[in-house]
Amino acid sequence: MDVEKVLQAAVAATEAAGSEFSLEEVRVRYLGRKGELTKLLKGLGQLPQERRPSVGAAINAAKDELQSKLDARRIALASEQLAKKMATEAVDVTLPGRRPARGGLHPVTQTLARVEDIFVGAGYQVFAGLEVEDDYHNFAALNIPPQHPARAMHDTFYFADGSLLRTHTSPAQVHVMEHQGPPIRVICPGRVYRRDSDLTHTPMFHQIEGLVIDRGISFAHLKGTVADFVQRFFERDLDLRFRPSHFPFTEPSAEVDVQCVHCLGSGCRVCSHTGWLEIMGCGLVHPTALSMSGIDPESWSGFAFGMGGDRLTMLLHEVNDMRLFFENDLRFLEQFN
Ligand code: PHE
Repeated sequence: MDVEKVLQAAVAATEAAGSEFSLEEVRVRYLGRKGELTKLLKGLGQLPQERRPSVGAAINAAKDELQSKLDARRIALASEQLAKKMATEAVDVTLPGRRPARGGLHPVTQTLARVEDIFVGAGYQVFAGLEVEDDYHNFAALNIPPQHPARAMHDTFYFADGSLLRTHTSPAQVHVMEHQGPPIRVICPGRVYRRDSDLTHTPMFHQIEGLVIDRGISFAHLKGTVADFVQRFFERDLDLRFRPSHFPFTEPSAEVDVQCVHCLGSGCRVCSHTGWLEIMGCGLVHPTALSMSGIDPESWSGFAFGMGGDRLTMLLHEVNDMRLFFENDLRFLEQFN
């Protein structure tokens, strides 16, 4: 009887099967309804009566053996496949992860922080002030009464209730004087708003205000402070000049020019061929401004200055177009990280 041969061939085919699919083919070929071992079982009837039990038992034993070989092979194939998958799809957990993209501070924000650092190092406090102000703090308390011509220069944004967007950081001085008695040393950086928009003006820009009130403060203290600041900010020795000017809340008043950072004074497009760049307005706080905020001008005196944060940033980095700061083009901004 060829049961033994069929079984040998079936076991060999089982061991050779390289996939679940070919293994199933082997099963069907031998154990399926028309499979070879099944056929042998069906052919039992042709055998003489006395041989049937022993041959039948042999066929059933062969079927059982093949089934267990098939099962073992199926398990072996599955674990082989898993091992292969693990090897090719392995994740190396020791590789560094992908970091989230990191933003950077806007160049103007960096300038404000840089200015703050310089003054904080000299013992100043920082007070941001309010962006929505009332007429009193933005104008009247700074000796700019209603109808004063200086108001015309401030192109103010007003709200329906009469409040306004501050046109300069000077109202922050008023808040500090009202709430904190002298001596005062404070720096007030922030956004200010004016209704103009052209090549050199944007409706929102930045200023940094400084205020010092103490006994016996003179213009010499102001000059020394400004000179020291410019040297630290630009990290160079640049010439300075104080030009007489006028602000209602300072007396005397001046505008400060710094030697052009671009051409160092020989004259170029950046400085309109003057060799100088204006960086701030300043002066000794007007006695009226002091007394309106409750400080006795007989006992105390002080100086104030206000400078443009956007302007300082342009000069520091030699950027020649202010609009670049407001377009948010990453190719520009990324250069400052
Ligand atoms: N606030 C003034 C301006 O915006 C600048 C200034 C500040 C002048 C402080 C004198 C003192 O033009």
